[in-house]
Amino acid sequence: MSTNDRVLFFDTTLRDGEQSPGCTMHHAEKLQFAQQLVRLGVDIIEAGFPIASTGDFESVRAIAKEIGTPDGPVIAALARCKRDDVETAARAIEPAKKNRIHTFLATSDLHLEAKLRITREQAKEQAGEMVRLARTYTDNVEFSAEDATRSDLEFLISIVEIAIEAGATTINLPDTVGYTTPVEYKALFETMHARVENADKVIFSTHCHDDLGMATANALAGVLGGARQVEVTINGIGERAGNAALEEVAAAMMVRRDKFKFSNGIVMNQIAPTSQMLGEMISFGCAPNKAVVGKNAFAHESGIHQHGVLANPLTYEIMTPESVGVTANKIVLGKHSGRRALEHRLAELGHTLTRDDIDEVYTRFTELADRKKSIYDQDLLALLPTRV
Ligand code: KIV
Ligand code: ZN
Repeated sequence: MSTNDRVLFFDTTLRDGEQSPGCTMHHAEKLQFAQQLVRLGVDIIEAGFPIASTGDFESVRAIAKEIGTPDGPVIAALARCKRDDVETAARAIEPAKKNRIHTFLATSDLHLEAKLRITREQAKEQAGEMVRLARTYTDNVEFSAEDATRSDLEFLISIVEIAIEAGATTINLPDTVGYTTPVEYKALFETMHARVENADKVIFSTHCHDDLGMATANALAGVLGGARQVEVTINGIGERAGNAALEEVAAAMMVRRDKFKFSNGIVMNQIAPTSQMLGEMISFGCAPNKAVVGKNAFAHESGIHQHGVLANPLTYEIMTPESVGVTANKIVLGKHSGRRALEHRLAELGHTLTRDDIDEVYTRFTELADRKKSIYDQDLLALLPTRV
């Protein structure tokens, strides 16, 4: 595999994630979480948006100092295309051995007119100037064309060329409002590679929001189109419906290596611990049915599924729970469960029953399961005949 086949993981949990409702983290939590991101093997940590507040500045600087070691990840900070932002970001990331200024400017007419009130020409000038300024502080500069997926293609190409000419090393094409589709997003990267001058000198990046539930699919499509960086968050947290989830993108690349022939640095068995740590730090964990890290992701209640998984987990699991750091699959006993799962659990509890005893306990179990939503081990033990 050549270096061109490596996909960089840019984690923005501490920036895009942390700025969304219910996701505020304290200084010490951010540091602890950044240390976990190192164990997880991410390539770039976007530590925050230093101009936003003194607290954000201090956290980015502390992360840069403590985590930004020579063997550690790149520490990035966000900055609008404004002198103050860029200079503040530069000061915050300065202690990191490998650092990056990530500067962004909206490129859709809607954002230029309604939000920034500047012309396309002014946007081009601002982008070039601020990328050049950022390059005076670090040789690692990312330019994001905010709302790229709703921008005029010709204008997008020209502003990306200006950013590259000014020294940008990574070009991010965010789907800021979760509007694009996999086919369209893949084509966007292919077009950039075909038409942007010096496209081969930079790394293109995805940044996908989940407003239509397509963030992970879009990020993966972007990679197929030529992107070699994915901007993701743990548990998919982020603005509104969130960002593409790191665990989903990484698991898809692991399970479907036949489709995604790329390498990456993610330490897969650190996924569940990272997800859990985040859930404990912010005000919500993920939904039980969340892909890869939800508490039901490896749980089975229906009899048919339990029978299959007990015979061979591959029948209903496309990856092992251990491969993503979950200790084991869970057989959940409830009204949809079958005799085999009951027998299996009772054996685990130390009771190997005869066929007749199992029949008797199973009848009582189904009666109980009709009345009770959760069946605990003590309920099962109470069902055993006294002779057992
Ligand atoms: O969604 C977005 O466009 C962003 C940029 C700041 C990269 O988060
Ligand atoms: Zn975003």
